[in-house]
Amino acid sequence: MATIEKVGVLGCGLMGSGIAQVSAQAGFDTVVREVSQEALDHGLAAVHKSLDRAVKKEKMTAEQRDEVLGRIHGTVEFEPLADRDIVVEAVVEDLSVKEQVFGKLDELCGDETIFASNTSSLTITEMASVTARPDRFVGLHFFNPVPVMALVEVVRTGFTSDETFDAAWGFAEAVGKRPIACRDNSGFIVNRLLVPYMLDAIRAYEEGIGSIEDIDQGMRLGCGYPMGPFTLGDFVGLDTLYKITEIMFDEYREKRFAPPPLLKRMVLAGQHGRKSGAGFYDYSTGEAVVSDFVKR
Ligand code: CAA
Ligand code: NAD
Repeated sequence: MATIEKVGVLGCGLMGSGIAQVSAQAGFDTVVREVSQEALDHGLAAVHKSLDRAVKKEKMTAEQRDEVLGRIHGTVEFEPLADRDIVVEAVVEDLSVKEQVFGKLDELCGDETIFASNTSSLTITEMASVTARPDRFVGLHFFNPVPVMALVEVVRTGFTSDETFDAAWGFAEAVGKRPIACRDNSGFIVNRLLVPYMLDAIRAYEEGIGSIEDIDQGMRLGCGYPMGPFTLGDFVGLDTLYKITEIMFDEYREKRFAPPPLLKRMVLAGQHGRKSGAGFYDYSTGEAVVSDFVKR
């Protein structure tokens, strides 16, 4: 099986920062690339905050935290990724951007380097097709927040070699996750089921069956979900959720995957959820209160 020792991560946003953290926590030398120093600093600060949370809860010592941080090397260049054994991509949910970064890396990385995408809804086949290594291309779909959620969906295409799939599965286990195997359909297993549920909640609100708070409360208290659908949407990022819906609707051409008008308006208005300070809820005061935008 391919040996993974050196890890690369593309993107240090919500997911890339978490993937870099769990990779470094598992002992891997980890290079993470962002488009700008500002975005890189923001992502690395999120890693620091997450590790500080673990130190505060006495889940790790300050020395262990510093060792983990010492294994993460941030860059805005592609070259530091050339010697990686695996590169996990977690850039924005946009096929053209993903194809651009994978195309660049395909020229730079050795033939043995495995490419993995953390995409929520694009198919791995779509991305692998722009590289010369479809046999070494796989999906590794982590869940948010990465340090906490145990699942990773490991996705193979018709070209993915057994060696690549096994190495990716082993990497998921090495970073403390419990992998499941998925076919290369849009949304894999979880999002194929979760996204229609989240969109139905928005449509239900548009139809007036209940308030944002009561629909959230209903799923928390009635079904034991840790977050209601609107809280979850704000947590995932409504910009990302909207991109996911457009991709899944294009794949399945069924209304249940279509973006509700309210979601589109919110994204166009910059209401992206926690990441922008307001989505279905406004977080600017520290408390989550339903935003005026959705009340109108
Ligand atoms: N980073 C790291 N650790 C975090 C964290 C974060 N962002 N948020 C919470 N934690 C940790 C806390 O430190 C705490 O750790 P300990 O158990 O060691 O004390 C633990 O998680 C529980 O956190 P809290 O007690 O603060 O809060 P909580 O009980 O409400 O749990 C939660 C927070 C784990 C996020 C929980 O609300 C939850 O599971 N929410 C649902 C998340 C979910 O559904 N994720 C999937 C989204 S869909 C997706 O990811 C796929 C896609 O493609 C869009
Ligand atoms: P995000 O917006 O938080 O982060 C995306 C990051 O990509 C940004 O920091 C951006 O600067 C960076 N980026 C854009 N172009 C880049 C490039 N050319 N090179 C390097 N970095 C670049 O988004 P996110 O929520 O972290 O999602 C990232 C990926 O993970 C998406 O494909 C998304 O579908 C998937 N995903 C998201 C979640 C979630 O709950 N948010 C869960 C699982 C998977």
